[in-house]
Amino acid sequence: MTTSGRIFLIACLLALLAFAALACEPATGEHQPTDDGAYGDDSLVVDDGQPMAGGDATVFDRSASAFSHPAPNLTDESLALHERGRQLFNQVFSADSDAVFFGLGPMFNNTACVNCHAHNGRGMPTFDEDEGHSQALMKVAVPEDFGGVPDKPGGPLPVPGIGTQIQDHAIDGFVPDAKLTLAYHSRQVVYADGSTVELMRPDVTITPIAIDEFPEETMTSYRQGPPMHGLGLLEAIPTETIIAWSDPDDVDGDGISGKVNYQFSLDGEDLLIGRFGHKNSNPTLFQQTANAYAFDIGIGNQFFLDPMGNNDEIGEEEIELVAFFLATIGVPARTNLDDPKVIRGEDLFDDIGCVKCHISTVTTGEHPIAELSHQKIHPYTDLLLHDMGEGLANTKREFNAGGAEWRTPPLWGIGVTHTVLPDSGFLHDGRARTIEEAIMWHKGEALHSRELFRNMPKEDRDALLAFLNSL
Ligand code: HEC
Ligand code: HEC
Repeated sequence: MTTSGRIFLIACLLALLAFAALACEPATGEHQPTDDGAYGDDSLVVDDGQPMAGGDATVFDRSASAFSHPAPNLTDESLALHERGRQLFNQVFSADSDAVFFGLGPMFNNTACVNCHAHNGRGMPTFDEDEGHSQALMKVAVPEDFGGVPDKPGGPLPVPGIGTQIQDHAIDGFVPDAKLTLAYHSRQVVYADGSTVELMRPDVTITPIAIDEFPEETMTSYRQGPPMHGLGLLEAIPTETIIAWSDPDDVDGDGISGKVNYQFSLDGEDLLIGRFGHKNSNPTLFQQTANAYAFDIGIGNQFFLDPMGNNDEIGEEEIELVAFFLATIGVPARTNLDDPKVIRGEDLFDDIGCVKCHISTVTTGEHPIAELSHQKIHPYTDLLLHDMGEGLANTKREFNAGGAEWRTPPLWGIGVTHTVLPDSGFLHDGRARTIEEAIMWHKGEALHSRELFRNMPKEDRDALLAFLNSL
C-alpha cells in the first residue's frame, strides 16, 4: 500500500513496544538565509515579567496575527527554513498543468493548507460548495468485519470507492465523492443557579455522488482544523512524560483515565505514539503534513498516494519545510496576569480538576530543532485521549481511539481565538461558539469537572472564563 516510504521522523520518538530510541534526523533542507527582515518586530521582544507560555518560543502579540510569528529564539538559519515552509503552507495548488504548483485533486477538500488553517489558527467547521472548497473534513471507515485492507496496519478500513476521507470537491472531468451538508440542532442546558446556555449539535448529511450509496455500516467523524501555533513544542514533549501521564485503567481511581494512541511510522515498521489530529492519529508533524497533502489537497507524495494513485506531486524536502514551519510557530504570551479575577479563575481551574487533563506545565526534551528543546512550556494539555461522553462521540475508531475519545486540545492561545478568526468555534467540530459552551459539552471522564463548573455561582464561572481568556 502506501506505507513503503523511507522513514523520516522530524521528532525524537521512541519505538514504544521496545522502548528503544530511534535515530533522529535533524530537519534538512537548503540552508539559504533570506534577508526578508519581516520578523524584526520590537513588539515581540521577550518580557521576563510574563509567564512564557511557549518558553523561549513565546511571542508578545495578541492581535489577529498572534499565531503568525516564528518563535523569536530561531537562529537566522532556522528562520530562513521557517519562511520557506510558510510560503509552501500558503501555496494554492492548481489543476492547470502550466502552474508551478500543479496537481490539485483530482478529488480534494481544499486547495491550500492555509485555506483550512487561516492565519495559522483553527479552521471553520464548514462545507462550502459555492466557494469551491471546504474547511471541515469528514473521515469515514467501515468496521473490521466488513472486509478490506487498511491504508496503514491497524488503521481505519476504507469505504469501497471512497477511501477513509470524503473529498467533496473535484477538478473538471471528475466527480467528488459526495456532497456534505450541515445542520444544527439546539438544546438548553441549565446551571445550578437557573441560568441557561444553548448548545448546538451539528448533523452532517452525506449525499453520495461517486458511489450509489454508502454501506449502512459506514462510520463517520466530522472535524475542523486545529490551530497551528506551538506544535513543535508539543512534538518535543518526551514520550515517557506522556506515557507517565496516562492511566488507561484509572489505577488512581479519579475517574480520569487518559490513554495514548499508537500508530505505525511511515514505513509501517515502528509503533509510535500519536500527538496530532483530534484523535492523535499522526505521530509527527511530518506525517501529518504528508497525509494532509495527499488526502486534503490531492497532492500525492511518496508517503501517501492521492486519490488517483499519484506519488510525485510534492517532494520530501518540501514536506520537511512545511513541517519545520509548523514546528516553529511561536505561542502567544498570557495576558492580564495580575487581574484578581484571572488569578481566582486559575485557582478554580485547578480546584475543579480541569488541570488533570489540561496539564499546565511541562518541560520539553530533545528535539531535532534545537530551539524547541528543554523549554518550560504551559500548553494545558496532556496529549492523551479521553472519553468525553456520548454527546461528543462520533462512530469512527482511529487506531486506539474510540468514537467518544478525543485528544485534550492545548489551551494556550485560546483567548485570542476570536481575535484571529471571529466566527470560529471550539471543540473538534467547532460546535461550541464560546469557551463556555465548550466546557458544558464536557462529559464522560470530564463530567465531574463540568458538574462542578455547572454548580458554581456566576461570579466563579466568569472568573474561570476570564482565566481561559488570559491564555
Ligand atoms: C480541507 C481542510 C484542510 C486542509 C486543506 C488542511 N488541513 Fe490540516 N487539518 C484539518 C482538519 C479537519 C484537521 C484535524 C484532523 C484530525 O483530527 O485528524 C487538521 C489537522 C492538522 C494538523 C494537526 C494539528 C494538531 O494540533 O493536532 C496539522 C499540523 C495540520 N492539519 C497541518 C496541515 C498542513 C500542513 C496542510 C497542508 C499540507 C493542511 N493541514 C491542510 C483541515 C485541513
Ligand atoms: C477528562 C479530561 C478533561 C477534563 C477534566 C477537562 N477537559 Fe477540557 N477538553 C478535553 C478534551 C478531550 C477536549 C476536546 C473535546 C472535543 O474536541 O470534542 C476538551 C476541550 C476543551 C476546550 C475546547 C478547546 C478548543 O480548542 O476547542 C476547552 C475550552 C476546555 N476543554 C476547557 C476545560 C475546562 C475549563 C475544564 C474544567 C471545567 C476542562 N476542560 C476539563 C479534556 C478534558
